[in-house]
Amino acid sequence: VTETLDMNRAIAETLDRLVEDSTDHYYNPYKRFEWVDALKDEQWWMSPALMSVHGTPWAEKLDEEQLMRLSKWESINFFSLNIHGIRELLIEVTRRIHTPGFEVASEFFHRFLGEENSHMWFFAQFCLRYGPKIYPDKALRQADVSHDQEVASFLVFARILIFEELVDHFNIRMGKDSSLHALIREINQAHHDDEWRHIVMGRKLVEQLYEPLRIRGDQAVLRYVDDYLRRYMVSSVQSLYNPTVYRDAGLPDAYELRTEVLQHPARHPYHESFMRRITGFLVKEGVISESPFGA
Ligand SMILES: [Fe+2]
Ligand SMILES: [Fe+2]
Repeated sequence: VTETLDMNRAIAETLDRLVEDSTDHYYNPYKRFEWVDALKDEQWWMSPALMSVHGTPWAEKLDEEQLMRLSKWESINFFSLNIHGIRELLIEVTRRIHTPGFEVASEFFHRFLGEENSHMWFFAQFCLRYGPKIYPDKALRQADVSHDQEVASFLVFARILIFEELVDHFNIRMGKDSSLHALIREINQAHHDDEWRHIVMGRKLVEQLYEPLRIRGDQAVLRYVDDYLRRYMVSSVQSLYNPTVYRDAGLPDAYELRTEVLQHPARHPYHESFMRRITGFLVKEGVISESPFGA
């Protein structure tokens, strides 16, 4: 009981700090960026080292112009993934705000929902202006079949955290990459500037929501959660490889190409590095048994 109280107090303090920081950095998303009329195809839209072909023979086979064109569609795909990820988390957080169990977090959730709505808007703006398209959500998301409210809430916040950590890996790097157009850099940086708060809070929530499952000690439930999240991590990484992206970039045999780069051994260390931070956290907390990327 004392441990739970300490945990609640720690969370309340973190929340206060994050809410205050969010208020201090409040901005009008609709005035935040200078939307240029057009972005040239012949430029890097995504950092070459973050592209799906990086490290594979395709990075050599394609000339710079082809790689730049591919970077455009990978960038649109990355922002589209953000849009769909945000849609899901808005739904799930809205479902829980001001309901029993989330009283302490609700004030923070208001900031979170507001910020995510802004993010979804600027990602969509980018895709629709310069794509102009948003890639549809093709992720085959496994359903949570547990029918257990404690498990469901835990998995929701664990999924949100995994998604935000993956995206942040890209945002941090692209926000600093001077080879990218200032607008692309800015969007990535602005997103990271809000996301660190969500990640700090996400970790607290995941710890807190895992606690009742740990105490219950039902091995079948713990194994289910472990398995589910490791599969979710793998499918999140796979969504970075979209066959339509290769087709839009004008590359032949888009589906074969997708399979080839996704399974290329040179990509494994990248998958591991995209998820290194969150893997370390989930393993340390005992939520997952090992890295799904065979670290
Ligand atoms: Fe976001
Ligand atoms: Fe977020």
